[in-house]
Amino acid sequence: MLTPKSCMKLLFILLLESEALRAQTMAGNTPGASRAIEDPASLVLPFIGTTNGGHVFPGATLPHGMAKVGMDTDSPGNHAGYDADPQFNVTGFSQLHDSGTGGAVPLSNFKLWALTTCTSFEKCPTSLDSRKLGRKILPDGTPDDFASPGYFSTNLSNDIRVELTAARRAALHRYTFPSSVTLPRMVVDLTNDGQRSSRDQEMSLDPKTARVQGGATFTASFGPGSYRAFTCVDFKGEGFELGAPVEFGVWLANSPVKGATDLKQVYAGFRDEVGALFAFKRASEGPTRILARVGVSFISSEQACTNAEEDIPDFNFDRVHQANRAEWNELLGRIQVDTTGVSEDTVKLFYSSVYRSHISPADYSGENPKWNSTEPYYDSYYCNWDTYRTLYPLLSLQDPANFARIVRAMIDIQKHEGWLPECRGATAQHWIQGGSNADPILGEFWVKFHEQATALNVSGDDLYNALLADAESEPPNWNLQGRQANAWKTFNYIPHDIVDSGGANSKQVSRTLEHAFGDFAISQVAKIRGNAEDGAKYAQRAGNYFNVWNPNVSVPDAPSVRGMMQPRSSNGTFDFTDPRHCSIHDPEKATCFLNAANLDGFYEGSPIIYSQYVPQDTARLLDLQGGAQSFINRLDFIFEQEYFEPTDEPSQQMPFMYHYANRPGLSTQRSRQVIAQNFNTSVNGLPGNDDSGSYNLSSTAPSFVVLILHLLGAMGSYAAFYLAGLYPLPATRQFLLSSPYFPSISFFNPVFNSTTTIKSIGFEGNPEDGTGGKVFVKNVRVNGKPYKTNCFLDWDVFIGGSTVELTLTDDIGVTCGNGTDTLPPSLSTGGYN
Ligand SMILES: *[C@@H]1O[C@H](CO)[C@@H](O)[C@H](O)[C@H]1NC(C)=O
Ligand SMILES: *[C@@H]1O[C@H](CO)[C@@H](O)[C@H](O)[C@H]1NC(C)=O
Ligand SMILES: *[C@@H]1O[C@H](CO)[C@@H](O)[C@H](O)[C@H]1NC(C)=O
Ligand SMILES: *[C@@H]1O[C@H](CO)[C@@H](O)[C@H](O)[C@H]1NC(C)=O
Ligand SMILES: *[C@@H]1O[C@H](CO)[C@@H](O)[C@H](O)[C@H]1NC(C)=O
Ligand SMILES: *[C@@H]1O[C@H](CO)[C@@H](O)[C@H](O)[C@H]1NC(C)=O
Ligand SMILES: *[C@@H]1O[C@H](CO)[C@@H](O)[C@H](O)[C@H]1NC(C)=O
Repeated sequence: MLTPKSCMKLLFILLLESEALRAQTMAGNTPGASRAIEDPASLVLPFIGTTNGGHVFPGATLPHGMAKVGMDTDSPGNHAGYDADPQFNVTGFSQLHDSGTGGAVPLSNFKLWALTTCTSFEKCPTSLDSRKLGRKILPDGTPDDFASPGYFSTNLSNDIRVELTAARRAALHRYTFPSSVTLPRMVVDLTNDGQRSSRDQEMSLDPKTARVQGGATFTASFGPGSYRAFTCVDFKGEGFELGAPVEFGVWLANSPVKGATDLKQVYAGFRDEVGALFAFKRASEGPTRILARVGVSFISSEQACTNAEEDIPDFNFDRVHQANRAEWNELLGRIQVDTTGVSEDTVKLFYSSVYRSHISPADYSGENPKWNSTEPYYDSYYCNWDTYRTLYPLLSLQDPANFARIVRAMIDIQKHEGWLPECRGATAQHWIQGGSNADPILGEFWVKFHEQATALNVSGDDLYNALLADAESEPPNWNLQGRQANAWKTFNYIPHDIVDSGGANSKQVSRTLEHAFGDFAISQVAKIRGNAEDGAKYAQRAGNYFNVWNPNVSVPDAPSVRGMMQPRSSNGTFDFTDPRHCSIHDPEKATCFLNAANLDGFYEGSPIIYSQYVPQDTARLLDLQGGAQSFINRLDFIFEQEYFEPTDEPSQQMPFMYHYANRPGLSTQRSRQVIAQNFNTSVNGLPGNDDSGSYNLSSTAPSFVVLILHLLGAMGSYAAFYLAGLYPLPATRQFLLSSPYFPSISFFNPVFNSTTTIKSIGFEGNPEDGTGGKVFVKNVRVNGKPYKTNCFLDWDVFIGGSTVELTLTDDIGVTCGNGTDTLPPSLSTGGYN
């Protein structure tokens, strides 16, 4: 069911930046200008992370749109359909995708395809394997593909040009056939989703209008379930009257049946691959352009038709594209940066990261097949474990209205299914990773927006009840619904030897730490709601991380790195997992992904990594690890020995943790080194083949290597925060503070109707390798007044709109300040009350 590598493993990828994109970007923005960036969409590079396992979706979507239309390839890593590696061939242009996920290939439903010539209707190559086509390769070795927010285009090796754009529930395709094509043909493929898993297909076509309606059941990606999806396809000539199709029929594999109008007429028992095939007349002059409008629905094919008619009534490709881009520009433009003295690559990296934070979850409102509700319905949470740390805090700063709708959708799911969603995709529950990680997301919303909640239609009672359900009730299958709640309440940790309903005997230590943080989030909500008793109860449970802390375990070759999170049996005895387990130094080279063989208690991170993971109480962690200097030494050890894994979310806060030892300069340098070492923006090209062997670049090709940052925006939002000089603590009112990569950065928050600008006084640019430089914050003023600390900003700074002035120095020895409240808060030192 699952691929051996699960969801979350990210790899280094290679990104090619086409000349076309580069040219467009240069034209759109004058480097060095400090005026507002009017067209931030022009700074987005959608191809980041689209090969070597990156699984990023580069096609066209609205922010959080349901229709995500893109090109599909036959790459084994085509989780988002596309693979930038030109050796992989094109199989179609489908309407639904996720971005950055693992598991099995999700979605990629309802591919369209254009054919230039067939010997006859009956001989047309309709099956996926027979129709697929090589890419057109440009002289620099890259495929002739282009993408920008809301738009994707490609030229195929048969000289057909395909362009794609999207509204919320429908896509619009434009196929331009070369003038030599006399009988343009279009294939609608009902069945070949990414897993080629269809069953229970239904389909009919109208011989006069060429409308195709159909649907099928498909297998979920990261869980045991399935989903039913539907489509409705209409065609129109651009610049000429298309008229009724010249030929029409239903196809099964490579056998088109001319004149058939319904699958039922051709039922042959074996229907793995079916669809519709049309031939149309060509345009009377010039190249033939055929538009295909494709509605999608999870309810019915009639609903898919209605969605298409409502969202794209006019078949106007350029209008749909411009409307889509305008939405992206408005959203991206809420964050403005001064680019003076900042490299163009850094600016692009920033806006591309913000862009990827708004692909998912997707707004499926009105498309929930499981119950009727007037509440919004969002899907593609894949998974909350990945996104709670940085994605939702970014929405807090920049897109709270969408955040509120997502929260309402989560609460509505809990009301109907009993538990908040964790790792949901295509309407099906998927396997959990850390537990009930919607808790910190709802906590983040309530802590930051409880005063605006009524206006945003979020009910505090419903939100709190949803949290309590996660925290207190044992679900039928915790591995799908969240928590092993009974064991958690009985033992105050997740014991290594109690399996309960979830089956898989895995990740008990990670789940203990996640549940502790989830309960911290609940305690914050309870306190704000005036429920002191629950506030205290859940704050107590937030301390349960301590129950898996074994002070006597150390790293075998580094005895001073002592004290580790460890698995523990229900009788209280500690079990032992080598602290190096599932790191690059693991002598057993074990995996710690989601599979039945993983019995070591940890998920996608070594015990060394998880032993730093107590965001709610880093002060106590520092004590447990022997005080400030010993804590710093341990962090240095983790980075120098490469235990730090920037692509695994439990590591994300680590570069900023020096703040808690009153050494924010070390955090600034470490976080900048992480960016420098993992984001290579060199335009000198790569030395021949990169080590994954997938590209052979000419030395003149503009290119750069980037650590992919994705996972439904988890990594995009993480990079965006690092470049903004902030790191969020979800479900709190604090952001850890460093220096931005820009002389100034401002955030417009539409709910508060306010703008907060962070300015770097004395900005002299960013050191290329992240080391040294005049980047350390020695003093902070807010609205002209000295601020209480140099180490964090309170949420209040962002509510009313403020000017934050950071005085920079090249002295890495800066501190948080001299007052009593200068260190970031922690539970054990009285913070968060
Ligand atoms: C793609 O198609 C070309 C021929 O067009 C073929 O040579 C090549 O092997 C195909 N690539 C893959 C990965 O199947
Ligand atoms: C495809 O060809 C057209 C010219 O027909 C050109 O304008 C476009 O840039 C090419 N590349 C892509 C990816 O669309
Ligand atoms: C939702 O309401 C419609 C119209 O009343 C009904 O046809 C449909 O069955 C309902 N769906 C569910 C899942 O209850
Ligand atoms: C909240 O609900 C009211 C009443 O249904 C509606 O008029 C308003 O537009 C909603 N506001 C938001 C932000 O959804
Ligand atoms: C750690 O070692 C000390 C000293 O030997 C012992 O008292 C304590 O019980 C040990 N703790 C654990 C959790 O094993
Ligand atoms: C506790 O349980 C573990 C695993 O079930 C077992 O190996 C160990 O001997 C037990 N310890 C005690 C003191 O009973
Ligand atoms: C970028 O990465 C390539 C390949 O790893 C390397 O050869 C090159 O030196 C790097 N460039 C910079 C500026 O770090």
